[in-house]
Amino acid sequence: MNQIRPKRVDTMLDLASYPIKHRIERVALVNNHAIVDWSDGRQSRFHALWLRDNCACPTCRHPQALERRHIFIDEAEPRLASVKIGATGDLLLTFEPIHESRFDAGWLRHHCYQDWARAERRQPLRLWGSELEQHLTIVNYADFMETDRGLVTWISALMRDGLVLLDGAPARTGEIQRIAERVGPIRYTNFGVIFDVVSRPNPNASADTPMGLELHTDLANWDHPPGIQLLFSVSNDAVGGDSVYGDSFKVAEDLRREEPEVFDRLTRQQFDFRFHDDSCDLRARGPMIQLNADGEIERVRFNNWLRSAFDIPESEIEPTYHALRRYWLRLRDRRNQVRLKLKAGQMIAVANARVMHGRDPFDPNTGYRHMQGCLMDMDWVRSRLRLLERE
Ligand SMILES: [Fe+2]
Repeated sequence: MNQIRPKRVDTMLDLASYPIKHRIERVALVNNHAIVDWSDGRQSRFHALWLRDNCACPTCRHPQALERRHIFIDEAEPRLASVKIGATGDLLLTFEPIHESRFDAGWLRHHCYQDWARAERRQPLRLWGSELEQHLTIVNYADFMETDRGLVTWISALMRDGLVLLDGAPARTGEIQRIAERVGPIRYTNFGVIFDVVSRPNPNASADTPMGLELHTDLANWDHPPGIQLLFSVSNDAVGGDSVYGDSFKVAEDLRREEPEVFDRLTRQQFDFRFHDDSCDLRARGPMIQLNADGEIERVRFNNWLRSAFDIPESEIEPTYHALRRYWLRLRDRRNQVRLKLKAGQMIAVANARVMHGRDPFDPNTGYRHMQGCLMDMDWVRSRLRLLERE
């Protein structure tokens, strides 16, 4: 596997930088915990086992691979023998069984697991309705391609809003691939690498007709749908064909608050999705609104033309149709939609786990409409941002 070699192997064998915004003022050993008082008045409590497990000395963590070597189950339960602050502000520890560890203060603060610290590290989403039309982030193509700042702005907006517009690109086929590869690898799907969205005489997908497309997420029929869809406008002269976007998380949060039984059903009930043609038959099953262990929404699967017949207990059929109807009607509410017409040379990016996309019908006899799209995984986008943040 290709791995970027560390430029600098510091005490934590970690390539990310952890600026020290708060110094360690005091440390005490209490009940086999290191109690750290920070210069901003915060306090952290670190378990001996957690500290021993995360020791980054070259014995415990491989100095080139930067991966953990220490296997905590192979050692007796560690006891903290001493704690003190080192000359450079690090935390210095000794353990029984005998071992010495050094923790960088910035790393320690960044990994503190007290509730206040975990809350500090959360990256809030900005949920939106139609008001986003007034402050959608628009990044200039040249800034995006040539400056780190442009790329950081684009990725940050995508992570916060799930929707970002790129403007001013050369309106030519294939340009989308250059744009995507500025961020990371394109994901290969049943649509290939780059797919064309044009009206075709023999379409194998609804997108390749002039029909309107209801709001949807892409590839709901995959176990792990791609996290990002890019759509580049090569030409958009036909009458109609405006793009529509909806924040499925925002609408789901409205449901959670106002129709909790509907929300609850959409988080528990399994839905089946399927795409098939001559070359594939791809199916996935999952809740429409997927929650993480903290009860936060982490993914929405919503795609009417890929939705299969319900395969659920008889008693669930009617309430499930009701729940789907309630969610869908809210999504169709203009107040929950951002609408825009993609000009030639513009590209929209949507966070496909969250933001739905759709379009109005268009009349192919009034002009040429040609979009190119591709899909990516969000892992690469987040990774790209972390690399930029190292600088
Ligand atoms: Fe789509």
